Amino acid sequence: MADNPIFEAVDQFIDGLFASEDQALIRLRQRAADASLPHIEVSAGQGKLLYLLAKLSGARRILEIGTLGGYSGIWLGRALPDDGELVTLEIDPAYAAFARTSFNEAGIGSQTLILPGRALESLASLTGPFDLVFLDANKDEYPEYLAEAARLLRPGGLLLADNVVRKGAVLDPPADDPMAQGAARFLAELSAHPQFESIVLQQVGIKGHDGLALAIRR
Ligand code: SAH
Ligand code: DHB
Ligand code: MG
Repeated sequence: MADNPIFEAVDQFIDGLFASEDQALIRLRQRAADASLPHIEVSAGQGKLLYLLAKLSGARRILEIGTLGGYSGIWLGRALPDDGELVTLEIDPAYAAFARTSFNEAGIGSQTLILPGRALESLASLTGPFDLVFLDANKDEYPEYLAEAARLLRPGGLLLADNVVRKGAVLDPPADDPMAQGAARFLAELSAHPQFESIVLQQVGIKGHDGLALAIRR
């Protein structure tokens, strides 16, 4: 999947040293393969980065948009204090049910709330403040999620958004690539947003060439 084999090899080396998976994450991968879940979850190293950023920001209340099988949710949830909470939104009821098992097996079942349904509908029912918001669902609605993140994050809260580079497709998004279109619109709006200070980390590795946006809510 990587564009250059050395990027993938170094990523695997880094993950082996710094982001080894415990039994719950290994079992999740086995269940995901058995259930034919799409293999689009964050890598172990990206999960560790989410975990470190959540800890660094002292997050007690985290919102994730796009649960899939709960892989990134476990990394985020494990950064929470005992009385913390992860709220995660997932449109596919089968993925939501799969993630419920994942969170229970990872020992964070009581700290996680999975809201099934379209994220924009679930978001309308949520009130802040959240300390961290992680965008990782359908990229075509990232601009709408940006507006909701601005509403729900506390001042100083952290916004993270996955997959905003798309192998460089954001530079000139093809008309038939709504994901790259959404990511490009999201980056344009985020960069000019008066309520956020932001940057994008370009990433290469086992997930190919992509990027993570980081923004602090003023
Ligand atoms: N964060 C996960 C990967 C998420 S993949 C991880 O790294 O482990 C993106 C997920 O967003 C998929 O499960 C997909 O079903 C979900 N999704 C897509 N459109 C959505 C929408 N409108 N509302 C909520 N979830 C959505
Ligand atoms: C896709 C979605 C993701 O969240 C990701 O990390 C990689 C790919 C996708 O739908 O193509
Ligand atoms: Mg992603």
